[in-house]
Amino acid sequence: MTTRIIGTGSFFPQMIVSNDDLSKVVDTNDEWIRSRTGIKERRISEGQDTSELAIEAAKEAIASANIDVKEIELIIVATSSADNVFPNTASLVQFGIEAENAVCYDLSAACSGFLFALNTAHAFIKSGIYKKALVIGSEVMSKTIDWKDRGTCVLFGDGAGAVVVAADEIGIEDMVMYSDGTKGNVLLCEDRKVGNFLTAAVKNEEVDSSYGFVKMEGQEVFRFAVKQVPQCISKVLEKSNTNIDDIKYFVLHQANIRILQSVAKRLNVDIEKFPTNLELYGNTSAASIPILLDEMNKKGMLKSGDKIVISGFGAGLSWGATLLTW
Ligand code: COA
Repeated sequence: MTTRIIGTGSFFPQMIVSNDDLSKVVDTNDEWIRSRTGIKERRISEGQDTSELAIEAAKEAIASANIDVKEIELIIVATSSADNVFPNTASLVQFGIEAENAVCYDLSAACSGFLFALNTAHAFIKSGIYKKALVIGSEVMSKTIDWKDRGTCVLFGDGAGAVVVAADEIGIEDMVMYSDGTKGNVLLCEDRKVGNFLTAAVKNEEVDSSYGFVKMEGQEVFRFAVKQVPQCISKVLEKSNTNIDDIKYFVLHQANIRILQSVAKRLNVDIEKFPTNLELYGNTSAASIPILLDEMNKKGMLKSGDKIVISGFGAGLSWGATLLTW
């Protein structure tokens, strides 16, 4: 018994922000952004929070799976931009879709979050604990961005993607996941600071209630991704004794077109096998993989029996790959 994706969905805020729009708020331009990243525009929330995007994506995935929402036993939301410290986003989704039989929690692994969440759901399903789960990647990254930092603000966008997974004879075949906490500082968004009125008063200091924003050492992250992603994809294929030529698509986290091109080159695989939609959405962090899967599903690109590799990578540092049969 393994875990099969039986439904997909996605949802975006309506507001489209082009590179030209961004050039009005920071010193940048369309040519720089497109040539360095492949991004042309992104969606930005004007008020909808992460759970609201997640709920809409989830409803679509459940309709696509054609199941009763009451069958869902587990909801995991992968996110770095949760509505609240608590309750978790997954519980808000449970309420929003009336999935009262599901246990709910969020998973924080930045842009690897969806992959790690999918693999976590797989562990529950493979072990027989649950039969159906909802796995969501949802982000309002625009909350976490310093809109004065041109090195990061041009890269990210908001959106949500969801999949319903169920116990089946075919589906996930193998997975590899990795973390390197020594490189936590190269891609980082700090939460609220330690400190409060009590401790500040003792030291006669002001309380620092500021929040952090995304900070990134771009070139370091780029080098990490183009080295580790091909290696982990090769590893999952080797572990499962699968020939790379048998893979129909490599569905990678949509960070940057140059990362996708470099990974394809290093694996000696035609770039046509790396679908992309980042030109329209930018980097939607944990949401990018389920959003792309949903787009491919809606276009009829995924046929039963197709072998695909999913790979996520990002802050932590964290990365991994999963081989599955559609
Ligand atoms: N518009 C115009 N110029 C910009 C800019 C922008 N948005 N952002 C940075 N620049 C400038 C820099 O200030 C620098 O100028 P200088 O030479 O005068 O100092 C110049 O462009 C080159 O900056 P650099 O950071 O070296 O660019 P780069 O070629 O490394 O490209 C990234 C930057 C972010 C596109 C690239 O490093 C990258 O893709 N990294 C991976 C990021 C990523 O995918 N992160 C998420 C992973 S989950």
